[in-house]
Amino acid sequence: MKKIQISPSILAADFAHLAEEIKSIEEAGADYIHFDVMDNHFVPNLTFGFKFIKDLQRVTNLKTDIHLMIENPADSLERFLEMKPDLITFHYETVSRPEELIDTIKKAGFGAGISIKPSTGASLLEPLLSKLDSVLIMLVEPGFSGQKMIKEALFKIQELKILIDIKKLNVSIQVDGGIKKDNFEPILESGADNFVLGSGIFAEDDYASVIQKIKSYKY
Ligand code: DX5
Ligand code: ZN
Repeated sequence: MKKIQISPSILAADFAHLAEEIKSIEEAGADYIHFDVMDNHFVPNLTFGFKFIKDLQRVTNLKTDIHLMIENPADSLERFLEMKPDLITFHYETVSRPEELIDTIKKAGFGAGISIKPSTGASLLEPLLSKLDSVLIMLVEPGFSGQKMIKEALFKIQELKILIDIKKLNVSIQVDGGIKKDNFEPILESGADNFVLGSGIFAEDDYASVIQKIKSYKY
């Protein structure tokens, strides 16, 4: 089993105190910072862009995880790659030739991920798995923090886990949306290894207890 990684989504953090929030998740044992980039077209919300991410990278040693929820990600990919992201994920629904974007990311030397919305089938990713570092299964409709998890999406985790294991690939299964300290167990047992939490961490008083509970879970 892969080591569990935690990637807090700073979309749910207090933007008036971002540097302190990031320091807190770092001390609490997080592995990545998850940056939700939204364009108000692919999703009905607008968040932040290049300078925001670059400035926050300067205040942390956490790995950079960029989740692009934007139309035409190829148009701005180079600028995101300048940030040397450890993982950059675009949405399957936003591209017609995903292989090309994956190749660009891999040639630049960074981790490549593809995400699917709750209504997109996991089997569509099968032909791409051997090229990918990560698949991101959305457990809510992308766009907002604080939504309730769609439980049916768990089957897609199991489906992808089987495909990855059969092919003996080293692809991480990231999950995002509605994950809390009291509902993560079936998600983890389904095969997810990289957990994005927004309100599940930042709306809690004790960030470390949430992160450590997930990381130390044994089944
Ligand atoms: C939603 C984003 C998520 C979101 C998670 O579109 O991709 O990363 O911030 O927030 P919670 O954990 O509160 O659902
Ligand atoms: Zn996200």
